[in-house]
Amino acid sequence: MNAAGPEADGVLAEVARQRIVPVVVIDDVSAASPLAEALADAGLGCAEITLRTSIAIEVIARFAETGRLVVGAGTVLDPQQASAAIDAGARFVVSPGFDSEVVHWCQQFGVPVVPGTATPSDIQQAWRAGVTAVKFFPAETLGGVAALAAMSAPFPGMTFVPTGGITPANVTAYLQHPAVLAVGGSWMAPRQLIAAGDWERIGQLAAEAAQMAAEFPADGAVVDNAAGGGWTVGVPRINGQRGVQK
Ligand code: 3PG
Repeated sequence: MNAAGPEADGVLAEVARQRIVPVVVIDDVSAASPLAEALADAGLGCAEITLRTSIAIEVIARFAETGRLVVGAGTVLDPQQASAAIDAGARFVVSPGFDSEVVHWCQQFGVPVVPGTATPSDIQQAWRAGVTAVKFFPAETLGGVAALAAMSAPFPGMTFVPTGGITPANVTAYLQHPAVLAVGGSWMAPRQLIAAGDWERIGQLAAEAAQMAAEFPADGAVVDNAAGGGWTVGVPRINGQRGVQK
């Protein structure tokens, strides 16, 4: 763990400004820099590198080296992985489910953390831990925007990063929901296109995503949850409105 650690504020606010987070599963380190450049050239400003492949920590370092993207670590399953990812240059941590040890480690070191939730119990646990942004995963399998609307309703201060099964066809419905901080997905950088080195196609898909993100900006103060304990979070607003409640 770096002594300084990542900055404790502003990272999730930046993710909220970006609105769309490419979720990257990558098998080859040599693909990391060209992929990061392709995403950044297309106008995307952040990425989540999943720790699902053995080289993911090195990929985080390569992404961070470009200096062009806010890099997060995904699929973080324990504090050791969180520590390795932060050392490599990740600035926020995402996990598929709620794990209090990962959350507490992140809070201890001032690292913004977005734990996964799939039920009201998960969301309540996250809220009680002082977390104000959670992943909603796997979003489409859980029932999509309708499920998100139902589960977010009892938690007015919580913001969500729906991920899982999101595509250009359904992303705008999520972006318009007032509780959505950002949307995650792999559709603009699918594993096969990365393996094929098809930066042109990835660039096109990423540019389309960036355009959709720009059409539905989040307009609200979002406060990082690293320190925990009842932060106030502004609900993202769509063009000054509270968005369309689905
Ligand atoms: C994730 O890691 O959050 C998901 O696997 C991404 O889901 P997608 O591949 O369906 O976009």
